[in-house]
Amino acid sequence: MPPRPVELNVNGRAYTLQLEPRVTLLDALREYAGLMGTKKGCDRGQCGACTVIANGRRINSCLTLAVMHEGETITTVEGLASNGALSPLQRAFIEHDAFQCGYCTPGQLCSATALLQEFRNGTASVVTADVRQRPAKLSDDEIRERMSGNICRCGAYANIVAAIRAAHEGSGQNAGTAGADHSDHRDNHDNRDNA
Ligand code: FES
Ligand code: FES
Repeated sequence: MPPRPVELNVNGRAYTLQLEPRVTLLDALREYAGLMGTKKGCDRGQCGACTVIANGRRINSCLTLAVMHEGETITTVEGLASNGALSPLQRAFIEHDAFQCGYCTPGQLCSATALLQEFRNGTASVVTADVRQRPAKLSDDEIRERMSGNICRCGAYANIVAAIRAAHEGSGQNAGTAGADHSDHRDNHDNRDNA
């Protein structure tokens, strides 16, 4: 099928991209919108490098089509900082040396940002002792389980868990704010300008 205009709201900015229906959200972000922060690892839902946040929910952008996300609010790693200031979680990743090569890091950050919000919302995981109750504490086991979809080939897991724990403990409500407020920076882009 021929390309058609697809409107995506990414990091508070409206993009109108000329996309074939078969284009994944990951390829739309990287190849058409020019947002290269989101990484392609496996392209088949196994590594989590492509994780972004869509309407507050973390998703593997390689497993979904861009046309399915028109009208949603999408946050990529480029949208986690606010007015040039890193989020508390991003700062914690630096302070705890939570990466080596950094290839998995955008996905880890988006996933952890959504994780912290999920925990604040009282969402249980499979290691939550009583799923009828709000999980009492974001333990390391909870963090590991909730981050299990994000693979790090460098094996920086211990420091990733430490960074997420620190952001959770130190930050209160703002640690993992799922994307900065970019509402003042909306404009329209056409992928033909970015191709
Ligand atoms: S690139 Fe999407 S899960 Fe690996
Ligand atoms: S820091 Fe290299 S893959 Fe995670």
